[in-house]
Amino acid sequence: MQVIETIHEMHQQMIAENKQFKKIGYVPTMGYLHEGHLSLIKKSKSENDITVLSIFVNPLQFGPKEDLSTYPRDFERDYQLALKEGVDYIFYPTVNEMYPTETSVKVMVQSRTDVLCGRSRPGHFDGVATVLVKLFNIIGPNRVYFGLKDAQQVAVVEGLIQDFHFPIELIPVETLREHDGLAKSSRNVFLSEEERKEAPALFKSLQMAKQEMENGEHDIEKIITLMKDYLKSHTSGVVDYIEIYSYPQLEPIQDSTEKIIIALAVKFSKARLIDNIIIQK
Ligand code: PAF
Repeated sequence: MQVIETIHEMHQQMIAENKQFKKIGYVPTMGYLHEGHLSLIKKSKSENDITVLSIFVNPLQFGPKEDLSTYPRDFERDYQLALKEGVDYIFYPTVNEMYPTETSVKVMVQSRTDVLCGRSRPGHFDGVATVLVKLFNIIGPNRVYFGLKDAQQVAVVEGLIQDFHFPIELIPVETLREHDGLAKSSRNVFLSEEERKEAPALFKSLQMAKQEMENGEHDIEKIITLMKDYLKSHTSGVVDYIEIYSYPQLEPIQDSTEKIIIALAVKFSKARLIDNIIIQK
């Protein structure tokens, strides 16, 4: 496994791999790898000749109230995990390498951002899209892997790839779950013992909503109220949002909608958990 820190070297290596007709799978991350990332790496390994992992904490996607300096980092641990999974290259640039001067062009994401978590993070997805344009151009992957736990990010990246004509296949990977259905997250450790027992109710409420829809219920407000009531009576958490949209457009459901996302965020005492399911209409 090679660790590459400069854009020039990364680009040259990828061109060399390309010349040998190697299929390049790419997993973009901000490091501090968890099981979710490892599942993306595993999938990339199974579908490509080489797998590239990038570790870059992107300042552009942090809001003024979000603390970039306290974002968790542990390169040595990430290195060992990537090595164990059989990653071929880690791209690990510094902020100065990626942004030597203030960027003169930024990507502005026009839709899919003013709902769900994006509503409370203005500018966040502009930062994500801007860094991804750079990373896609540096690495030139055939396939890119993203977890569906952050389904809004997947929707934004889908739009980016389509609108900017990147010849990249986006592979969304299913959320990993504990045996009781709770979506795996590094935030779960912040739940108290009691909250951990309650937390599977999030996935149960999503399944309940799915069942209602499959049974022919079309009244979105009614489904949301049902979920809210369920969460209120089964958890001590406070519902931040429950929203239902077309996917990946993230717009109100219409007759022509093919896929639907049911998404929620619930605040517990020390952790805010998100989860979603995507269903065929
Ligand atoms: O999901 C993340 O870790 C980041 O948003 C990404 C895609 C690596 C861009 O910085």
